[in-house]
Amino acid sequence: MSTQPIGFFDSGIGGTSIWKEVHKTLPQESSIFLADSKNAPYGEKTKEAILALSIKNTEYLLQQNCKLIVVACNTATTNAIDYLRSHYSIPFIGIEPAIKPAALKTQTKTVGILATKGTLSSSLFSKTSSLYTSGIRVIEQVGEGLVDLIESGKLYSEEMDQLLLKYTQPMLAANIDYLVLGCTHYPYLIPQLKKLLPPSVQIIDSGEAVAKQTRNILLQQELINTKNEKATHQFFTNKDEKLLQNFVPDAFSANVKRMDF
Ligand code: SIN
Repeated sequence: MSTQPIGFFDSGIGGTSIWKEVHKTLPQESSIFLADSKNAPYGEKTKEAILALSIKNTEYLLQQNCKLIVVACNTATTNAIDYLRSHYSIPFIGIEPAIKPAALKTQTKTVGILATKGTLSSSLFSKTSSLYTSGIRVIEQVGEGLVDLIESGKLYSEEMDQLLLKYTQPMLAANIDYLVLGCTHYPYLIPQLKKLLPPSVQIIDSGEAVAKQTRNILLQQELINTKNEKATHQFFTNKDEKLLQNFVPDAFSANVKRMDF
């Protein structure tokens, strides 16, 4: 049993979509969240650069005594999680696109995946995707520009709608019935996507699965917090405090701080 916090890091605010799911499942756990918005987007960077940033974030969270780290970023997961797991002794939870459930459920045998260049070009993604998608057509689409728009506060904008239209049209033409969101920023685009997609297309992300996996690992490794004390939550950004405040629940917006890390 451990009362140490769970650490989270992301290239920016997107990982808060994962934090919310984990918090729902494990409300007794304290947390420290790092939004590396100064370096967003990770998805356009080289593997070496993504790894260096992931190590920097990990080192900071370890200094804060975190007992487990959720790599709340698909791009960092696909490019750095093997290294992190082999170089540090605490458990790491990664975010993998929900390709498996989509491939199992599709009726049209065609699924779409929207993710960053860094995720779609990684060997971990190719391995996972080919494992589950035999006989299924996967329409891959790089969401170039989407993270930039979200990080600059343009979640609801004409530019966003135009990009989403451009990225979903070929998927619809190919008759997808599942759209997998392969970036932790993208769940914040669900309302906009729902306006563009017919109701027959289901949108799926990885939040719930990650929360379950985090709970399982804490239980397995006897790290789950069983004390009935109030959890504490700290959110750090190295860029725009106001932006991060918009993405954490109101009850915690006073816990958002700007800091260089
Ligand atoms: C990015 O920084 O490009 C997106 C992060 C992600 O892949 O979840």
